[in-house]
Amino acid sequence: MKNDNILILGNGYLANRVKEENGWEICADKINGYDDLENIFKKHKPEVIVCAIGFTGRPNTDNCEQNIEKTISSNTFIPVYLAELSFRHPEVHIISIASGCIFNDSDKAYTEEDIGNYEGLFYSRSKIYAEEILKYPVRLGRKISICRIRIPIDYIPSPRNVLDKLINYKTILDIPNSITYVPTLCRGLDFIVKHNVYGVINLVNEGTIRYPKLLDEYKKYVPDFQYKITDLKTIGVKRTNLELVPSVKLKKLGFKNENINDLIPIIVKKYMEEMKTNKLSL
Ligand SMILES: NC(=O)c1ccc[n+]([C@@H]2O[C@H](COP(=O)([O-])OP(=O)(O)OC[C@H]3O[C@@H](n4cnc5c(N)ncnc54)[C@H](OP(=O)(O)O)[C@@H]3O)[C@@H](O)[C@H]2O)c1
Repeated sequence: MKNDNILILGNGYLANRVKEENGWEICADKINGYDDLENIFKKHKPEVIVCAIGFTGRPNTDNCEQNIEKTISSNTFIPVYLAELSFRHPEVHIISIASGCIFNDSDKAYTEEDIGNYEGLFYSRSKIYAEEILKYPVRLGRKISICRIRIPIDYIPSPRNVLDKLINYKTILDIPNSITYVPTLCRGLDFIVKHNVYGVINLVNEGTIRYPKLLDEYKKYVPDFQYKITDLKTIGVKRTNLELVPSVKLKKLGFKNENINDLIPIIVKKYMEEMKTNKLSL
């Protein structure tokens, strides 16, 4: 498939990283109702739509509680319009960048069959509604891929990269979590397009990350860097911590998924090189 048959919706962090890595075009038009989406579709005639629209809150998901309307319109209504598009134009392949933050329990690893069950944050609720809405057309044979990702980590410095966030927080949690390396996400999206993979896809790396391990790697480059470990009770906020079973659908088709713990030294090394090359400081 030619790159110009694939259209990314949204113009934020992940939309732009997918554009950079995969060479797909972005459409940044605002979508306030189904007709806006239909107009974009008629104008660009894409074979594949990658939806990277959403509202994650600023500086974090707590902010979604104060912005219920924005959260539900970006995170739930847009997927409703995508579902409608799939009924009106069954030929189009729709890929939704979704979230694994619909669970919150470290007692089990969640599979692609599990249904989101964490309602403690409105962000999570809005994503559960979205996922359930998109699953219906999938059951009816529509070409929709629901890519659950978690905690983007990247070698390119960015305020949205968890590595930047942790270095700045200096006080961190030590709970195992599934995580998505942004280049793995981009490769995964390309694989999904090429292999026509539909339904729920846990697009996370193999293994779970513990933040101290990541910061200890960073300390190898910045020996005087100090951090402290805390717990959720002490910081008094709601956060999701969970493990997803990396996509079985992709694995069966031969997708090579790296273990995040093998990637940590590579990510931090490349990240430090980027910082140096671009003369960045945190
Ligand atoms: N980053 C993460 O930690 C993370 C983790 C898991 C899942 N995700 C999901 O991945 C997706 C992309 O996240 P991101 O980090 O790239 O977020 P982002 O940087 O905030 O980008 C979101 C984009 O969506 C756009 N948008 C929101 N409502 C829109 C609408 N009605 N019509 C058109 N565009 C609209 C925003 O435009 P405006 O800014 O102009 O509103 C922005 O360009 C989201 O669904 C998010 O929930 C992200």
